[in-house]
Amino acid sequence: MKDYFEVDKWKIIEQGFDPEENRVAESVMSLGNGHMGLRGNFAEKYSGDSLQGTYVAGVYYPDKTVVGWWKIGYPEYFAKVLNAVDFIGLDVKINGVELDLASDNWQLENFQRTLDMKLGLLQRKFTVKDQDDRQTEIISRRFLSMDQREVGVITYQVKPLNHTARLELSPHLDGTITNEDANYGEVFWDEVDKEAFKDQACLTMKTKKTEYIVSSAVNYQYSREPINRSYNITEKNIQHHAEFSVEPGEELKLTRYLGLTTNRDYQDHQVAQRAQNISANAMNTGEEQLFIDHKKAWEAIWEESDIVIKGDVKAQQGIRFNIFQLYQTYTGHDPRLNIGPKGFTGEKYGGATYWDTEAYCLPFYLNTSDNEIARNLLYYRYRHLEKAKENAVKLGSKGALYPMVTMNGEESHNEWEITFEEIHRNGAIVHAIKNYLDYTGDYQYLYDYGIEVAIEVSRYWADRVHYNPRKEVYMLIGVTGPNEYENNVHNNWHTNRMASWTMEFTLDSLNKIKEEAPARYQELLTELELTEEELENWQDIIDNIYYPVDEERGIFLQQDGYLDKVLKPASEIPEKDRPLHQNWSWDRILRSCYIKQADVLQGLYFLQEEYDLETIKNNFDFYEPKTVHESSLSPCIHAILASELGYEEKAYNLYLRTARLDLDNYNNDTEDGLHITSMAGTWMSIVHGFAGMKMRDGKLQFAPFIPENWQGFSFQLNINQSIISVKVGADKVTIELKSGPELTISLYQEDFKLTSSQPAEVPLAK
Ligand code: BGC
Repeated sequence: MKDYFEVDKWKIIEQGFDPEENRVAESVMSLGNGHMGLRGNFAEKYSGDSLQGTYVAGVYYPDKTVVGWWKIGYPEYFAKVLNAVDFIGLDVKINGVELDLASDNWQLENFQRTLDMKLGLLQRKFTVKDQDDRQTEIISRRFLSMDQREVGVITYQVKPLNHTARLELSPHLDGTITNEDANYGEVFWDEVDKEAFKDQACLTMKTKKTEYIVSSAVNYQYSREPINRSYNITEKNIQHHAEFSVEPGEELKLTRYLGLTTNRDYQDHQVAQRAQNISANAMNTGEEQLFIDHKKAWEAIWEESDIVIKGDVKAQQGIRFNIFQLYQTYTGHDPRLNIGPKGFTGEKYGGATYWDTEAYCLPFYLNTSDNEIARNLLYYRYRHLEKAKENAVKLGSKGALYPMVTMNGEESHNEWEITFEEIHRNGAIVHAIKNYLDYTGDYQYLYDYGIEVAIEVSRYWADRVHYNPRKEVYMLIGVTGPNEYENNVHNNWHTNRMASWTMEFTLDSLNKIKEEAPARYQELLTELELTEEELENWQDIIDNIYYPVDEERGIFLQQDGYLDKVLKPASEIPEKDRPLHQNWSWDRILRSCYIKQADVLQGLYFLQEEYDLETIKNNFDFYEPKTVHESSLSPCIHAILASELGYEEKAYNLYLRTARLDLDNYNNDTEDGLHITSMAGTWMSIVHGFAGMKMRDGKLQFAPFIPENWQGFSFQLNINQSIISVKVGADKVTIELKSGPELTISLYQEDFKLTSSQPAEVPLAK
């Protein structure tokens, strides 16, 4: 569905309405502010195909697991992101006929749905014509305040163009919502309380089992007094009615001020009152001022995190869409939250936290905002350490195995090949600690928290490997690497390497702590019952772990049996068979050589400094052609490595694929929601890929190039409170310190000290 949305630097524009694409457009037009989010659903009734979605951060439901064959170690539930009270719904009747854009009663003209990413505003404009040719123009707008996260504003303007209209507007709060993906068709919400007044409503609901209380309070404001008004209360629903007679050319406007609170933030008995106060205060402040404050908050985000691309509007739109959606999903204001792969844009995936957070999102937040946000993301895992230890025990192992998918530290995913076997995630979680330390130098975090995570994960690896006396090596068998198109393989290079790397990192860290904080070292030995013997065992594993390689090709093997497969490039797969997971049997996929996402290459990306260019090149040249990039997380890692290798065109094409994955619906699944976590990978493709940024031995390095059809690109970074701007122009590269501590950087391997008066400037390498 390429080219469905108009290309624009700051906006996503749907010009004309295609019901077939409605779910995709609803995903793309989602709004969020870190506290709550909405799909781009229509406000008025729509009887066509749509996925209704309103989500509240951190509010989930443990839906009873469905499996054919129960296996010990499976979690009892799958954590669902919940569809919450619908507060945008509005029944509209014009001259007694219900407005429904899917109904033959109405002819739709000049439809335009626009997401303005600069302003965080969703707007819809259209004209409807009834069977007597009476035309009415409608404009609706909504934003979820980035300034006051519990506030949302929704406006609806109706203007009869060539008739006097009898207009009935019936906004509601509807708690009779369900999740499409409910395993047993269960209703997840109970009603707690509802209150309605002349122009106000407040509906309070509670999730079953998890007992989250969520109150939605709304104040309704009309641009003029209705002729009639009333309200109607039914189970889990409050509906207001207002009737007007509107002259041709006159506009009637309804403004709804939402306050949405939860007992995650307030005591149970305060939740409803708070929501009502917030909604009332919002109305007193008024739409205009709320919007100014909201806009300012977005300006501040864009100031820090925007990437400007010259000469390629498609690429520009792509990167902004990604940055916009990331900040809509997670702002770092609440350390209890994390970044769900679908954010607030759909139900699929459930859970909030995957290894995606550490492997993809952390670098983005680490370099576009204060260190505190990245630290919060790491600390989130520290808080879940006890649960990760329980998880390891449940699977018959020692140490800590972090879950593949979680809301509260417990595993909530139940496919054995992923839950039990995709253990490489444990490596990524520790690697993120190293990444954070490299950029921030905040070793206190390591001493206080990170080291415990590293030790327990090392313990898991030490237990999960086994010594094979026949080959005199340690092995990891029965695993799934990042490439989920192979399961239960032996010696996945990525997993073996990350296991060993974790133990190396942990031993190095312990040595550092022993030297620099001996008291803490002693404490760790005692509290965690660490013995010399255990540390020696880790070293023995590091020295003797087995890595599958093909000496002839100079590559690491994805797993022991990989070369026994029929090896064919992905370019030979007929177009009609793509994506494979929608067209091939699982058996056929598993037997094939095709790779869903970076696997060996993901490991090389993590540990790039340990490998020379030739090794990276050999592996890239061998694996990339066999990769189908059917995980959203795939193209970005390849774009970064392709940039490193000087494969500029390839890097650019992969960039477009990651940046426009949802805008162009590359994987044919945007209707389920957006791929939020991979959006951080898009940012990485430019910053780590095209600009060649890396941290090596405490020094920030750059080696930029410009994709052929760009005239330049620029962005800003927050490196440990030093704000620097990077401008890559057609002829020269300029790196400037805008504020914060001075720092030395390397540009094309030449050192520059950046001070407030002294930028680094060199010709662009060609
Ligand atoms: C990928 C995983 C990823 C998950 C959530 C899957 O398709 O294979 O690596 O963690 O999506 O983004």
